[in-house]
Amino acid sequence: MSIPILTARGVVKSFGSKGWFGAGDAKRAVDTIDLDVNEGETLAIVGESGSGKSTLARMLLGLSKPTSGDVSYCGQPMGGFAAPDWAAFRKSVQPIFQDPASSLNPRMRVDTTLANVLRRHRLATRATLDTAIAELLHSVGLDPVQFHDRYPHQLSGGQQQRIAIARAMAVRPKLIIADEPLSSLDMSVQAQILDLLVNLKTSRNLGLVLISHDLNVVDAISDRIIVMYLGKVIEAGPTKQVLGHPQSDYTRSLLAAKLVADPHIARQRRLAIEATMVKHPEPI
Ligand SMILES: Nc1ncnc2c1ncn2[C@@H]1O[C@H](COP(=O)(O)OP(=O)(O)O)[C@@H](O)[C@H]1O
Ligand SMILES: [Mg+2]
Repeated sequence: MSIPILTARGVVKSFGSKGWFGAGDAKRAVDTIDLDVNEGETLAIVGESGSGKSTLARMLLGLSKPTSGDVSYCGQPMGGFAAPDWAAFRKSVQPIFQDPASSLNPRMRVDTTLANVLRRHRLATRATLDTAIAELLHSVGLDPVQFHDRYPHQLSGGQQQRIAIARAMAVRPKLIIADEPLSSLDMSVQAQILDLLVNLKTSRNLGLVLISHDLNVVDAISDRIIVMYLGKVIEAGPTKQVLGHPQSDYTRSLLAAKLVADPHIARQRRLAIEATMVKHPEPI
């Protein structure tokens, strides 16, 4: 088998003071995690808020250094990266964040944002730049004529996220790490952006690390799942296996929460709760 794109071994991230004597009250946001991300696969990381998903994502993206342990890119530990290694890594592994408004520069037009990335990585010349920008906008479902000269505040949340995706795709990455990319969007827009991500992934044979608390999404698109709780991986495996036959109580409870997202079941539960409340009315 080929070498994974990303490998984490024994990765720990602690926050907070170490105290006078080195031990103290440092808190492990990520606690000794091992994982591999293989070429072309979709790996989902799930877990409730505060379980350490974003902290792990930032270490996988090389945006923050593990307190201990190591992340490797194509078998090479990031701890030993020189400048050219970082350049290659930044071109191969691209982030998409939850809040597109804060990931875009408010004073920069869409075309400038994309031009900067294309120029920095020498992916377009003066002669090919306009065409390259138009192609990128097309690839994320936006009409170049209509959108090239807009500023972020002139875009909807979904359109902003499309620009963030275009910027990530501009460098032709091998892997996208998306941290709750749908969570800030309206329900109706979420499905469209998910569709876009899946289409791009398939047509370009991208790897995708998708961080999400929405198990419906994860069930629909991921190959493997890692379930995190308080900084640790408590369950991992192929998606169908983990969601079909969860081994831990925690995964079972996440799945139970998922069912409530189904309006029919939510209504049945509410009726059942209301029925017991009639028998045992709440104190006013
Ligand atoms: N920069 C930081 N400083 C201190 N604590 C942090 C920092 N970032 C995250 N944490 C803490 O680490 C834990 C995990 O946070 P996070 O990775 O954001 O979880 P998730 O993305 O799963 O919601 C939380 O308890 C959070 O408060
Ligand atoms: Mg998070």
